[in-house]
Amino acid sequence: METLSQDDAFARSAPMVYTVVTSVDEQGKPNALGVSWVTRTSFEPFLMLISIDHSRYSHEGIRKNREFVINYPAPDHMSGAWVCGTTSGRNSDKTKTSGLTFIKSEKVRPPTIDGAAVAIECQVISEFETGDHTIFVGKVVATRGNPLDERHLYVTAQFQLFPLDNTFEESVP
Ligand SMILES: Cc1cc2nc3c(=O)[nH]c(=O)nc-3n(C[C@H](O)[C@H](O)[C@H](O)COP(=O)(O)O)c2cc1C
Repeated sequence: METLSQDDAFARSAPMVYTVVTSVDEQGKPNALGVSWVTRTSFEPFLMLISIDHSRYSHEGIRKNREFVINYPAPDHMSGAWVCGTTSGRNSDKTKTSGLTFIKSEKVRPPTIDGAAVAIECQVISEFETGDHTIFVGKVVATRGNPLDERHLYVTAQFQLFPLDNTFEESVP
């Protein structure tokens, strides 16, 4: 074992999952951002958390409207999902610039990405400040997805998106 810089240690924990989280702003305009800091945080009730930087436009919308959808993009969403993670809804409309198709969600106002491998609709039940991010904890109110193709996107330490193909040469058990 060797001492690593904090940044190097974190980079070596890659790959991370890559999701696109949708929300609506104060005017009801939908937005979408790339989020890797995302996980389930309770079985019962079913809760998910996302960690959102204070500077993101999505932060304002989620704080005001208390709803979000965690979309796990399919492999053919790759370039649109990248647009969501690299441009801001503050000065663009990512429902157009991303080339992704957004459809009505079942229980919340933020839309769902059509064809997502999984889409998890959430209502915010609590939030915590963690340094420069806010953790939004969402109660899951609806879940949809594509049972025929579960592949979705991950991101390398060099910020390249890729789909995982579920063929593992080494595995346990
Ligand atoms: C691979 C990747 C992972 C990201 N993960 C997060 C994250 O977990 N939390 C976050 O606040 N921003 C994350 N971002 C950055 C936002 O997606 C990005 O700043 C986006 O442009 C913000 O959009 P908005 O201003 O419309 O909300 C990530 C970006 C990329 C490319």
